[in-house]
Amino acid sequence: MNELNISAKITVYSYDELSEVEKNLITAARLSSAEAYAPYSHFWVGAAVLLANGEVLTGNNQENAAAPSGLCAERVTLFGTHARFPDVPVQMMALAAQTRGAFTGSPITPCGACRQVILESEMRFGKPIRLLMYGRDAVYVADTVQTLLPLHFGQESLNG
Ligand code: THU
Repeated sequence: MNELNISAKITVYSYDELSEVEKNLITAARLSSAEAYAPYSHFWVGAAVLLANGEVLTGNNQENAAAPSGLCAERVTLFGTHARFPDVPVQMMALAAQTRGAFTGSPITPCGACRQVILESEMRFGKPIRLLMYGRDAVYVADTVQTLLPLHFGQESLNG
């Protein structure tokens, strides 16, 4: 019998320690969260991506009375981004979420399905996406989404 010991490196920053580029991307995510359509959960999530060509695009969660038809902020943002800029890699993605009138104290971390979609975006261009997960008390930073998705299933897995 063997064990696989999997470690994940997340860097924990205070907001003030971040670079201007990072702070600006978080600001874009925070602003976008205010435009979310979240009448059911009242959990308003914003995402912002910085592309290799300097473009910043944002998105937010879009809910639906038929619940599974809604979509998280991360996927709204990434699918929309790749639809507009199919050849441009994403360099960085910031997330922020608010509920009951305040941004979350703990960093917002993406759901499993969104981790899978962010991973595909990384794999598609062969470039890691730096993920900034904002909370009032701390900002978690991962250098690649692979950190959040150990033993992932990717395109290469289809080769057997
Ligand atoms: N949500 C996101 O948009 N991103 C996340 O990372 C977590 C959850 C949305 C989905 C749903 O609209 C609401 O937040 C509550 O789960």
